[in-house]
Amino acid sequence: MHLFFPNVIFKKINSVTFGKDFRHKNINEFMKNILISGGAGFIGSHVVRKFVEKYPDKNIINLDALTYAGNLENLRDLENAPNYFFEKADITQIEELKQVFEKHQPDAVIHLAAESHVDRSIQDPMAFIKTNVQGTANLLNLCRDFWSLNPEYSHGNFPNYRENLFYHISTDEVYGSLGEEGYFVETTPYDPKSPYSASKAASDHLVRAYGNTYGLPFIISNCSNNYGPNQFPEKLIPLCISNILNQKPLPIYGDGKYTRDWLYVLDHAEAIETIFRKGKIAETYNIGGFNEWKNIDLIKELIRQVDEKLGNPEGASEKLLTFVKDRPGHDRRYAIDATKINRELGWKPSVTFEEGLSQTIDWYLENEEWLKNVTSGTYLEYYKKQYLSR
Ligand code: NAD
Ligand code: TYD
Repeated sequence: MHLFFPNVIFKKINSVTFGKDFRHKNINEFMKNILISGGAGFIGSHVVRKFVEKYPDKNIINLDALTYAGNLENLRDLENAPNYFFEKADITQIEELKQVFEKHQPDAVIHLAAESHVDRSIQDPMAFIKTNVQGTANLLNLCRDFWSLNPEYSHGNFPNYRENLFYHISTDEVYGSLGEEGYFVETTPYDPKSPYSASKAASDHLVRAYGNTYGLPFIISNCSNNYGPNQFPEKLIPLCISNILNQKPLPIYGDGKYTRDWLYVLDHAEAIETIFRKGKIAETYNIGGFNEWKNIDLIKELIRQVDEKLGNPEGASEKLLTFVKDRPGHDRRYAIDATKINRELGWKPSVTFEEGLSQTIDWYLENEEWLKNVTSGTYLEYYKKQYLSR
């Protein structure tokens, strides 16, 4: 079923009546309403802020179910911005989504809403399949129906202007696990190995299939591990900051030599805005920090910086390092080759890891109340289940 909305009709009439030539216009010139899903989460909150500040003439709609990972505290500073709107809605509930679409008539969707933590996906895979696969399919169906797509634009035959865009935010984990050598590039075959990465891979496939079949104008970016302010303290870096502050054990899975490529979250938000503005339809862009660390080395650097900031003797918190039972199916190494986004769109990370880590620690030290609020209640139940029997 195709839904008809006044803005779609207006745009079509407008283009004919006033003879506007869309082809030479910049991507988002005709996009008035940008819906960002998952905007109350870690990365989403930084993306929402960037768009609200950079595009005062566009409406930025933050759609989020406010799960354990969603927190409107992250966006308190935007509450009174005239171009910012929040809608509490669950992407697995099609009726809730429809209401938001009818009310705000989005021209573009930047889709970040997801279950995002590998350890939780091992405990409860179905939640990931529901949100990441079914939820993404719901959003895709709605965009297909809402945007009255032109089937001529399927098979990758997309126009060089954009009225609409489905921009899907994904992860490097879809590519699987690397050995000591090599990097993930945009053409690396998918080989996901955890329920989380498999559910994200499925969602990436669905997005490309809707592009190929219905002509949905889409872009996908796959990013490496993020860190920075507002990250929920179940992920490695904020978990360890929180545990150092509380002098609790720092759980290192397995031999600690698992390797990740870390990117400061504000640099990811900048990459997303750059891709939104300049990226080509139906393309994939890998985003990474050119910044690989073995977990154990990273946590030692973290300890060094936190101890220094707290005025503790050097290495004082190293006694908290605790090797624990490994994560099942743990991917050994991720490393992104981000040459394409650098060469084609001119993006590169703006801060070094040491600077980004220092800013991150400062944020957690200055926001102990935020940390206290999110580490009470259900967090404690999760923590017990995840760590106390290891
Ligand atoms: P997060 O867990 O911090 O935030 C997810 C947000 O989605 C939360 O606000 C949550 O309330 C919302 N959400 C969850 N289920 C929902 C549902 N059913 N309906 C509506 N909203 C729902 O995640 P994050 O770390 O900010 O990651 C955001 C996106 O970026 C995800 O798609 C993730 O796969 C991707 N990504 C994350 C990283 C990383 O290192 N964190 C790296 C690459 C890609
Ligand atoms: P995480 O932050 O969960 O991200 P991802 O699994 O998506 O890469 O974990 C980063 C790395 O740190 C990963 O190799 C698992 C490891 N890790 C630990 O050693 N201990 C922990 O308590 C956590 C949460 C992660």
